[in-house]
This record gives sequence, structure tokens and C-alpha cells, in this order.
Amino acid sequence: MSVPLTYSFLRYLAAKKSVDDRALNWQVWQRLVGALPDATPEQPLRILEVGAGIGSMVERLLAGDILTHATYTAIDMEPTLLAEARRRLTQWAVEQGFQVRENGSGQLHLRRAGHHVTVETEAIDAALFIDREHGQRTWDLLIGQAFLDLIDVRTALPRLCSLVRPGGLLYFPITFDGGTVFQPEGDAAFDRAIEVCYHQTMDQRVLDGKPSGDSRTGRRLFAHLRTAGVDVLAAGSSDWVVFAGADGYPADEEYFLHAIIHTIGAALTGHPQLDAERLGAWVAQRHAQIERGALVYIAHQLDVLACVAAPTEERQRGKY
Ligand SMILES: C[S@@+](CC[C@H](N)C(=O)[O-])C[C@H]1O[C@@H](n2cnc3c(N)ncnc32)[C@H](O)[C@@H]1O
Repeated sequence: MSVPLTYSFLRYLAAKKSVDDRALNWQVWQRLVGALPDATPEQPLRILEVGAGIGSMVERLLAGDILTHATYTAIDMEPTLLAEARRRLTQWAVEQGFQVRENGSGQLHLRRAGHHVTVETEAIDAALFIDREHGQRTWDLLIGQAFLDLIDVRTALPRLCSLVRPGGLLYFPITFDGGTVFQPEGDAAFDRAIEVCYHQTMDQRVLDGKPSGDSRTGRRLFAHLRTAGVDVLAAGSSDWVVFAGADGYPADEEYFLHAIIHTIGAALTGHPQLDAERLGAWVAQRHAQIERGALVYIAHQLDVLACVAAPTEERQRGKY
């Protein structure tokens, strides 16, 4: 594939799925699966996903046969991503033998023997959603995948926790944690400068006048959760490792890599500490390495599973 002339965030998220599938920490995943309460038709599991994108996580949970009876609320600020989530999920579910019906309120009902999962999507900023739902509804499980590193965790996390019932779970996979590595090394000092300056752009991101992002969110999450009064149940690394095998890069990961290099180049254009010509040459060289199947990309991330303090009797029963 030649270097794309334009980029689509939607295609990037679709290409990211196979990278995430490899990266997810299975010890944390197994702990999540084991900690989920039993669901019944009368008491379906209530799941809220913030920053759900094109719905990769709900599809993964269904594919793993982890959801039998559930209502899944997926929110994201981008309506086009949620429209794609509904399209993808419908197509996938039909292929898997689910009966899929959309009701008048736009909820998708996915039914198969022993399974009934309702998926509702809403295009809304997470902060507005929390304001509206605080004190109204709670969920058994809140998921934020590749999401916390984009927001002001310090202020948002306690508010997100308030949407989870006592004893409920929080699952934050693919949380960026301050490591961006490319191989082969070029000029090591310049590679390092690129990494430092790129992480700085995440740390200094401001949206609507508020800080929004932290390149070390993963490691800092432990302290943020403690401050919010939430126990960490499991944590582990979920690094992205993208490389070409004998048949090249898997799935659409070549596009994924071009999009990563494009994003870094765009974020650093005009950076006062980087020479513009050298940056341009670095970006061109990395794209060329992707075309040859030579580029290896590693991003350090963490998966964290936590639990809002449970009533004493549930703790004594040892569920958590
Ligand atoms: C890196 S993407 C991850 C998407 C998806 N969780 C995944 O892993 O494939 C982050 C997502 O969060 C959404 N997002 C960012 N800030 C948001 C906010 N304040 N409220 C709602 N969604 C937000 C973006 O639109 C985007 O879809």
C-alpha cells in the first residue's frame, strides 16, 4: 500500500481492532469475566461504555460469549462513529446467527438461544452525559477503552465512578502510559526528541479551556482510583506491538501505522524544539519503512480493572 493521501479516523479505529486484540491483557480480561455478576432475563447486566468509537468492545464481548443478558449503553461524542458501530454490529451479529431488530427508540436487540443483548447508542460528550445521569441511573460495569488518556482524569474519574453501583466494576483497557518506540532506530537523539515532544502535546492538550490528556495516564491511574475510593482488582500491560511478518502487516495494520505516523507528524508540525526539515524527513522515512514492511511500532499501555466498594456482605461472599 502506498502512503495514503487522506486519513479517516473511522478506518483507523477499524484497523486498531486487531492491534488491540493482540495487546489486551488476558489476565485482566479473565479477572473481569470472573467478577461479572450473573445475568438473567429479569436482571440483565447493565454496561456503560464511554468513548465507544465504532463499537469494537461490545463486539469483542459478544464474540467471547461473555454477554448473555445485557443492556449495553455506548456513548461517544462523534455521531458518525456510533452510526458505524451500529452498522458493523448489525452485520457481525447477523453473520453470527443473532436475530437483530431495531426498535422505535433506535435500540438494537440482538437475540440468539440463551442470549438477549440490547445495545443503545448516544452521541454526547461524556461530561454532559455524567451531569444528566448522575443520581438517576447506575451501571454494573463501566468501560473506557483508549479513552482516559484523552480527558482530565483527575476531575472526570470520581464523576465516572458515581455512575457505577456499589460493588460495580470499572474496566479501562489500552490506557496510554508514556512509551512510544519505533524500530529501526534512526538518529537515536532525534527519535527521542520526537517521543518527548509528542508526549508533551498530549500533556498540554486543552479542550474547552480545560486540560485534556496525560501521556502517563496508565501509571497515574492507580493514585487517581485510590483518591476516588476505588479498589484496583487487576492491572497489567497491554502494549501495542505492530510488525510485519513474512506476509506483511496483518489485517489493515499497514494503514494503522501510516495513520500513527501522520498523527505524530501533524501534532509536531511547527513545534519550536524540532527542526521542520528534519521532522519532514523523519516522517517521510517512517512512511517509507512501513511501505517496505520494515517499521516496528511499540506503544506502552496498561489495562486496569477496579471495583467500587461493595456492600460488606458481598465482599464476605468473596465475589470480588
Ligand atoms: C482513541 S478513540 C477509542 C475508541 C474506542 N474506545 C476504541 O478503543 O476503539 C477515543 C474515542 O473517545 C471519543 N471521545 C473523546 N472525548 C470524548 C468525550 N469527552 N466524550 C465522549 N466521547 C469522547 C472519541 O470520539 C473517540 O471515539
